[in-house]
Amino acid sequence: MPVIAVVGAQWGDEGKGKIVDLLAEKAHIVMRFSGGNNAGHTVINSYGEFKMHLIPAGVFHKGVTCVIGNGVVIDPAALLEEVEELRKRNVEVDKLFISDRAHLIMPYHFILDGLEEESRGSSAIGTTRRGIGPAYMDKVGRIGIRTGDLLDKGTFLERLRLVLDQKNRIITRVYNAKPLVLEEIYDKYCRYGELLAPFIRETDLMVEKALKNEEKVLLEGAQGTMLDIDFGTYPYVTSTTTMAGGACSGLGLSPLKIDGIAGVFKAYTTRVGGGPMPTELLDEIGELIREHAHERGATTGRPRRCGWFDAVVGSFSARVNGFSSFILTRLDILSILPAIKICTAYQIGGKKLSSPPSSVVELAKCEPIYEELPGWQTDIGDIRRFEDLPIEARTYVKRLEELLNCPVSVISVGERREQTIIVQELL
Ligand code: IMP
Repeated sequence: MPVIAVVGAQWGDEGKGKIVDLLAEKAHIVMRFSGGNNAGHTVINSYGEFKMHLIPAGVFHKGVTCVIGNGVVIDPAALLEEVEELRKRNVEVDKLFISDRAHLIMPYHFILDGLEEESRGSSAIGTTRRGIGPAYMDKVGRIGIRTGDLLDKGTFLERLRLVLDQKNRIITRVYNAKPLVLEEIYDKYCRYGELLAPFIRETDLMVEKALKNEEKVLLEGAQGTMLDIDFGTYPYVTSTTTMAGGACSGLGLSPLKIDGIAGVFKAYTTRVGGGPMPTELLDEIGELIREHAHERGATTGRPRRCGWFDAVVGSFSARVNGFSSFILTRLDILSILPAIKICTAYQIGGKKLSSPPSSVVELAKCEPIYEELPGWQTDIGDIRRFEDLPIEARTYVKRLEELLNCPVSVISVGERREQTIIVQELL
């Protein structure tokens, strides 16, 4: 039975929420492996519209097990709020489990995220200020606190005392800000521990069981490859492995067990936060796309930067992830345009590049080389078969297949679950 990873192929916000919600219908288990509540996956289905930040979008299907893996950082307040919201709207969360190895976002992480951003001045990363970077720094620095630690109050207190002492020294001496109070954090997080206890499990054992039982497994990525800590536009990235490889370390899953990797691409490009984006449109076309597609961050509400499809980024993303297919979302948005451009290479100095440079300084100097295709300017929201798309839309998709060097498996032509063209079944 297949194990399929669904990962973002650009700068996040590619529409993974809708895709996972759709594919989860056939899955037994859906597992999120990285990021935190910096993610905002929009899902629109028969229960209504939801912004999912931590809980896998598979939660809407009864009987599907949802796992938040060890690679995710968890803000307990945000998770409990999400659980509450789902329950209020009649979505059951009785099959949700979180790894005892997942690290917690603590109050000092938020504070430091904000203080660090402010100290960066004009070089600010534009983080979501959810404490993500500082939480992963502590994980790697071996001073993190994990969900499992909350189940043993004595050990938790000891660990918190040690870490908070160090954090307060940074907060007060480096940033001149107010220190945090140990007892307040301890009491609050002990309460969170009690509320989260029913969800906490050794989820790596659940992975093993699912594989043994030959279940259909969906691996849900967060953010996108260009925000990956290694292969993204460093330092304007998030603090995790957003690529498919992150599913292995973020869940306790052998790389040998992944059968397919589907990269999710928006039919154009968007980015929130700082850092270079070669195909950004700072003109009326960019504005038109942003307004027509309501391109605002699901987590922070910030307007997204919009631009043409960047196939240099796309083929790089396909290569470093090893996509077996790609999923194209929001193709319907391009219906408003008379002509559509695709960036097929970059020009820098006298050189032509077919892969993005690792340096953001260099990337910022890259001029996109475009190829122009005719638009279709007709509503495609009701089309359900690839053959029924206008010839111009098919040509656009076919050209992307060539440039990405992999086949399209799913095309989304609207925000609702049913507004989807399945070209190739994934699960
Ligand atoms: P952080 O993940 O909050 O540290 O933010 C680092 C960068 O990643 C910023 O540019 C954010 O805007 C971006 N980012 C983080 N999560 C998402 C997401 O889910 N979608 C799009 N951008 C994101």
